[in-house]
Amino acid sequence: MTPGDSSSVTAGQALHRSVLLDQAVALLMVRSDGRYVDGTFGRGGHSRLILRHLEGEGRLLGIDKDPEAVRFGETLAAEDGRFVVYHGSFADMADATAAQGWDAGSVSGVLLDLGVSSPQLDDPERGFSFMSNGPLDMRMDPTRGLSAAQWLNTAREQEIADVIWRYGEERFSRRIARSVVRQRDEEPLVTTRQFAELVRQAVPKKEKHKHPATRTFQAVRIFINRELDDLEAGLAQAVDLLEPGGRLVVISFHSLEDRIVKRFMRDLSRGPQLPRGLPVTAREVAPPFRLVGKALKASEPEIEENVRARSAVMRVLERRADTEGESIS
Ligand SMILES: C[S@@+](CC[C@H](N)C(=O)[O-])C[C@H]1O[C@@H](n2cnc3c(N)ncnc32)[C@H](O)[C@@H]1O
Repeated sequence: MTPGDSSSVTAGQALHRSVLLDQAVALLMVRSDGRYVDGTFGRGGHSRLILRHLEGEGRLLGIDKDPEAVRFGETLAAEDGRFVVYHGSFADMADATAAQGWDAGSVSGVLLDLGVSSPQLDDPERGFSFMSNGPLDMRMDPTRGLSAAQWLNTAREQEIADVIWRYGEERFSRRIARSVVRQRDEEPLVTTRQFAELVRQAVPKKEKHKHPATRTFQAVRIFINRELDDLEAGLAQAVDLLEPGGRLVVISFHSLEDRIVKRFMRDLSRGPQLPRGLPVTAREVAPPFRLVGKALKASEPEIEENVRARSAVMRVLERRADTEGESIS
């Protein structure tokens, strides 16, 4: 199918420019009357384009952790009866779809466009950005869990260093963690500016064209939102939902995410690694999934228009139509 001109997908999108919009929807939609899940609704850029191509019994479920994104989803649901929105994590995709009466093996496509949206990054009150000053929060769902400030003001120094190292690959993680503890002994960390400045002072060597707090902010955000744990749980549930011929499309924005997606898809498309000489037929060990094409990146013109697209990598996995659906989770 050929999704239409993305420029007409505008309502509710003014604040977020969807990455790889046409390509993702074209690869996702294997049939126009299927059931689809947009696990990262955001401002609904991808969802609106999916809806434009749905026909007949076609339905779409949008999921987002962020109550603000869900409000946009509710507006869309009021406009279009084929769409419903669910407030929660895509790590709970099985529950969200079960609530619709959608069983394992009955969904045509699942899309995950990972990370934060531009409205989340651009709103200083959400505390994601070191470029503007606001409360040091960083939760995609501010109604649950600890904020970044609450965690940084109470966690052990070693735990803070480990998080910054593991999720930010920041080589000065220990120095930064030590500065956090020293700072909070004086007065608690409260704002993004305070934290960004603390990191800037703790990092002795600056990387070219990169704010010294980039890696640390990424690390704390990933940890606070359990991004990689959610991703692993979401991927496993997504493939269980797919019907034969159904597809999982994932857009990642950094190497830690992409590594998880790449390995997950590679392992499923390889099938079981059995010792040679076993008395089984090729059909019996045929992997139930296949990779659709290679990893896809945004074009230069898209990157020129939208800097977020620069680090995007899209991968697609399909449940083979000629094998029985078997659960992997
Ligand atoms: C890059 S934006 C998606 C943009 C969307 N595709 C669009 O075109 O408007 C990512 C969104 O996913 C949400 N999100 C991130 N991790 C999530 C998770 N584990 N479960 C549900 N939503 C998540 C964020 O709150 C954010 O709204």
